[in-house]
Amino acid sequence: MSQLFTPITLSGLTLPNRVVVAPMCQYSAVDGRAQDWHTQHYGALAASGPGMIVLEATGVTPEGRISPACLSLSDDATEQALTDLVRRLKSFGNSRIAIQLGHAGRKGAAAAPWEGGGPAANGWQTLSPSAIPFDAGWPAPQALDEAGLARLRTAFADAAKRALRAGFDAIEVHSAHGYLLHQFLSPLANQRTDNYGGSLENRMRFPLEIIAAMRAVWPQGKPLGIRISATDWLDVGFTLDEAVIYAKAFTAQGIDYVCVSSGGVVAKAPIPVGPGYQTHLAEAIRQATGLPVRAVGLIATPEQAEAVVAEGKADMVAIGRGFLDNPRWVWHAAEKLGVEIPYANQYRFASNRFWPGAALARPREAAE
Ligand SMILES: Cc1cc2nc3c(=O)[nH]c(=O)nc-3n(C[C@H](O)[C@H](O)[C@H](O)COP(=O)(O)O)c2cc1C
Repeated sequence: MSQLFTPITLSGLTLPNRVVVAPMCQYSAVDGRAQDWHTQHYGALAASGPGMIVLEATGVTPEGRISPACLSLSDDATEQALTDLVRRLKSFGNSRIAIQLGHAGRKGAAAAPWEGGGPAANGWQTLSPSAIPFDAGWPAPQALDEAGLARLRTAFADAAKRALRAGFDAIEVHSAHGYLLHQFLSPLANQRTDNYGGSLENRMRFPLEIIAAMRAVWPQGKPLGIRISATDWLDVGFTLDEAVIYAKAFTAQGIDYVCVSSGGVVAKAPIPVGPGYQTHLAEAIRQATGLPVRAVGLIATPEQAEAVVAEGKADMVAIGRGFLDNPRWVWHAAEKLGVEIPYANQYRFASNRFWPGAALARPREAAE
């Protein structure tokens, strides 16, 4: 029996299966507002039944966006656009809808990848724990002062309130990939000499304050998850040992699940990219914390995803590029793993169970 297709309950929310669409920036927003592109992109995914879809990194303030074309959730107009999107996505199927809320810090104000990905021409002054640029050619961020930190604690909490009104089932705090919270955690970006820099306890202080501020306004019974980079892949950076200590603090903070990724705080690191290359990090966090954990990173085939869950390495898997390549990944995985899942009547009636010969009409499958 498939473990991947067994439901899982996170806090009060049950996911119909353990396949999650990883958050993926679409660089297609206008002034932070979701557009038709978002409806078609997430809509196709919602119709094909993953347990959860995590909407892309969304800035809690306009300057917290990764790029000028990223989503934000920071005023009534951006809230309305996401409210409309969530309502539509829920009408397409059974997937739970989460939003990844974050602040890009010194990696903000970037151009879309297809426009070169460096600093955007129409950017803004970025913020960070210390005034250290992300990489050569990037502008120096402004080091956040006490007032700036207070403003961001409020911004994260306000965005959580807006996410609740917009109808999201879950929030995923973005503490990974070198964005603001990760910048505080990593000595590669944080060289503060106050209470927010130096020791691990100090480096964790601001991320933990953000989690507390969000938990205070996000209801119990609705999952508050987090995505972390569990290592910078550099001895002088944030390490797995430190990530374990950080994650152990989550239980007391009311975090309901952890998605374990890696890297991103500096432009160049020796990342051993290969199938399932981050899964051992998820396993370590799961063992240390006992919290539900999601693995991600080149988990591409149904058999691979099934093994991650069945072998107890993680409780869920997130898939990114696999879903861009094949938005129907969940249907195909269910078929491979011999599981019957509900899917849209509009397509189901034409599946091979109802319409003999239909498998031959799917050349991609026939070619496998
Ligand atoms: C186009 C694209 C956009 C992404 N945007 C985000 C994002 O907004 N937030 C995030 O945490 N990760 C982001 N990622 C990373 C993915 O969530 C995922 O961790 C990564 O692609 C590895 O999974 P995969 O091998 O299944 O693609 C993005 C990846 C891609 C390909």
